[in-house]
Amino acid sequence: MNLRAPQLHFDERDQLATLCKASGDPLRLNVLRVLASDSFGVLELAQIFAIGQSGISHHLKVLAQAGLVATRREGNAIFYRRALAASEMPASTLHAALLEAIDRLQLPADVQSRIADVHARRNAASEDFFARMAGSFQARQDLIAGLPQYCDSLLALLDALSIDPTTTALEVGPGDGGFLPELARRFGQVTAVDNSPAMLELARQQCEKLGLENVRLELADALLDDCATADCVILNMVLHHLAAPGEAMKQLARLVNPGGSLLITELCSHNQNWAREACGDLWLGFEQDDLARWAIAAGLVPGESLYIGLKNGFQIQARHFSRPPLTTLSLTGNLGTAR
Ligand SMILES: C[S@@+](CC[C@H](N)C(=O)[O-])C[C@H]1O[C@@H](n2cnc3c(N)ncnc32)[C@H](O)[C@@H]1O
Repeated sequence: MNLRAPQLHFDERDQLATLCKASGDPLRLNVLRVLASDSFGVLELAQIFAIGQSGISHHLKVLAQAGLVATRREGNAIFYRRALAASEMPASTLHAALLEAIDRLQLPADVQSRIADVHARRNAASEDFFARMAGSFQARQDLIAGLPQYCDSLLALLDALSIDPTTTALEVGPGDGGFLPELARRFGQVTAVDNSPAMLELARQQCEKLGLENVRLELADALLDDCATADCVILNMVLHHLAAPGEAMKQLARLVNPGGSLLITELCSHNQNWAREACGDLWLGFEQDDLARWAIAAGLVPGESLYIGLKNGFQIQARHFSRPPLTTLSLTGNLGTAR
């Protein structure tokens, strides 16, 4: 008699069963909902769900084994994000449908309020940094990537848009205002909003020195305050200072007039943890795919991209996203009309 052990196959049924088991828990569904457009560390998730660290770690392990969450290393820290359904996997149809259903869930009010607390803490760290470090801003920028290193590429992207000189631009986070002369030259009216009084003062000095009369400076938080919309919205090295960049992309998209553009210059994903301390970075750059995914979720259409490798090992991505004109918008129902 042949008494061979039964062969274990991790087949399609097992994958489906693992996925069903992992998602068969209300708390784990809420974790996936929370991770829809942001990534969080274990401690942050423990706080958001008001449970112990070992409890949330267990749930994350179950979700990871089912391929529903993935980790992203940010220097010494590990962040959890949602894993996308890989089309070649047998359970991918269920996976995609599950995420779609989860996105329709409303998060409990207490969870939403604790997410806001986590974001407020991240924002406070960033704001505090710019308040303290405005005096050494340029030197710190140069440690990683200063405007001269990506200015030409950004201008190439901008000039490919064939800008009508009567249109408007909004620069979010102009820092010391280094890019404002280029915008002032190309657009009829430029608004620059920064939530740091110290940084805005540097931009004001720059505008005064160069006599930039069509530039208006505003002390405002581009995500929280009511900013005027513009035909072209520009963010240079700002997104990695924002508490929830995926969510931020939705707010930024609303600042773009229909038919207009969002230009983002950002660091590509890196593992230089010292940048947090030295430059106040909340995120160590971004994957190219993440930016595109967030932009699409915000109703924008990815356009041209340029990548710039620097001698110090960092890589910069200059990205163009467009907001469809109103005719297309009214068909898709995305974003609504401009404010
Ligand atoms: C690293 S600096 C980039 C400055 C400039 N764009 C450059 O590339 O040199 C980031 C700037 O964004 C500003 N900032 C961060 N979060 C902001 C927000 N929510 N709204 C407006 N400005 C913000 C900071 O105060 C700072 O001036």
